[in-house]
Amino acid sequence: MKKLLLFFLAATLIGCQTETPRQIERGLIADKAMVVSAHPLASEAGKNIMEAGGNAVDAAIATQFALAVVYPGAGNIGGGGFMISRMANGETAALDYREKAPLAGGRDMYLDENGEVIAGSSRRGHLAAGVPGTVAGLVKAHEKYGKLSWDKLVQPAIDLAANGWALTAREASGLNRNRKAFIEYNTVQPEFFLAEEGKEWKEGDIVSIPELAKTLQRIRDNGHDGFYKGETADLIVAEMKRGDGMISLEDLASYEAQWREPIKGKYRGYDFISMPPPSSGGIAIAQLFQAVEPFDLSQMGFHSPEAIHLITEAERRVYADRATHLGDADFYPVPSEGLRDSEYIADKMSNFNPEMASKSADISAGQPAPLESEETTHLSVIDPDGNAVSVTTTLNGGMGSKVFVGGAGFLLNNEMDDFSIKPGVPNMFGLVGGVANAIEPGKRMLSSMTPTIVEKDGELYMVVGTPGGSTIITSVFQTILNVIDFDMGMQEAVEAPRFHHQWLPDLLQIENRAKFDSLTLAKLESMGHQLRVRGNTGRVDAILVLPDGRLEGGADPRGDDTASGF
Ligand code: DON
Repeated sequence: MKKLLLFFLAATLIGCQTETPRQIERGLIADKAMVVSAHPLASEAGKNIMEAGGNAVDAAIATQFALAVVYPGAGNIGGGGFMISRMANGETAALDYREKAPLAGGRDMYLDENGEVIAGSSRRGHLAAGVPGTVAGLVKAHEKYGKLSWDKLVQPAIDLAANGWALTAREASGLNRNRKAFIEYNTVQPEFFLAEEGKEWKEGDIVSIPELAKTLQRIRDNGHDGFYKGETADLIVAEMKRGDGMISLEDLASYEAQWREPIKGKYRGYDFISMPPPSSGGIAIAQLFQAVEPFDLSQMGFHSPEAIHLITEAERRVYADRATHLGDADFYPVPSEGLRDSEYIADKMSNFNPEMASKSADISAGQPAPLESEETTHLSVIDPDGNAVSVTTTLNGGMGSKVFVGGAGFLLNNEMDDFSIKPGVPNMFGLVGGVANAIEPGKRMLSSMTPTIVEKDGELYMVVGTPGGSTIITSVFQTILNVIDFDMGMQEAVEAPRFHHQWLPDLLQIENRAKFDSLTLAKLESMGHQLRVRGNTGRVDAILVLPDGRLEGGADPRGDDTASGF
């Protein structure tokens, strides 16, 4: 026995001596302030605003308007989003500017007379668009927290739209790919995005959108009303009439962004702040953190079969709850407290078998305690005063509904597909839902967007979020685990390959098989997991506060994402 102990001691000592410190490939390091977003010009716009004395909210607004020009696939004024903020004094807020179903909409709007889904009707074209929320949200955020004047925040986007910008290779191919859809779905051809007949866009080509510059000028000069009333609103409604859409002047005039109570929780001594309904993101990551906390993930090791299995089984159970219990809490009694109750989570995980995969068919949503009270492209910013903003915003699918508002130069979302258009019928991300997320006039569709801020010892620690539809929740969750449990820096945590399980379909989706150890994948298969290889998963943009107070950016190389700071 003594010999054995000595052997282990010696082995450990030898292990310690030979272990070389892990080299961490760091992202951009900045002393004071940083923006990480999906496009270098947008990150630059936000950074410039902070250099001119603006705070993190100002920078997030300027970055978002710039994205609406240079990153048309998802940056938008025709979509919606969520903003989580944490000011340097510790004050936190959640802003909901999610799109809404038009007042003329209803539960059966995408079904034919036999009750069958009209293929594609919630995904493309005018009927797919919800009432946009982005401009209302940005105005509301500015009213509460903005430091610089509004016009200064919109101007950089106006300049980009009017003077033009150089396409990146990714953007050029995105526009080429969408050419056919643009022509098919538009009543007024978006000439600014159609390459000359017989030609294709290529990297470095300069594009400008004069009519978008004019729309942005109206927003600069009239704020909320520059979008929801007057000429812009008239152009949207005229577009709807030409294309048999539903959004009316009344829908636009009555749209308001809402302040909500953020979802807050703890994980291994860290505190996190995230988005409540109509996002499922905050509740879902709160459930996921509680589900894995009793296990020693760090000991299991990064991407070990044990760790992937545990995380997958937690995800399977949490997404089952999402499908049943989550929707717009203004319309449906979401059991927000019950879903995050520690006994409820322990009970859900009680049938977790460390050796074998569960079957999704055997897992259903739990029965959390009923609602007790009536509460109801990602960018990350930190400013020199330590204020932090986490924004996820979307048109839903790439280029949204593919419909531009004629004469106004911007794309409309296809967010209506995030509703459960018929119980059990999957949306474009394969997510199913039921009555909690059924369409009702004026209701917001359920989202997975999970803009999140993490605190350590009561101080700002991380700002994080991503696009990626149903995979958003798991990407945010795994990025945070990479830092907290697996000791990675921010860039490393963002770059690490990801995996995803969403209950239905019953598949463990693996990003880029070559980046996972083949023995690990074989082991997971032997445990009963059905693997499916998928392409890039998410584009996480995040910032980590380092022990010396400097900032490390994590800009996702899966896209053109760029950190910019000083
Ligand atoms: O709100 C949601 O959950 C979706 N509309 C997000 C879409 C998305 O992330 C698309 N990007 N890959």
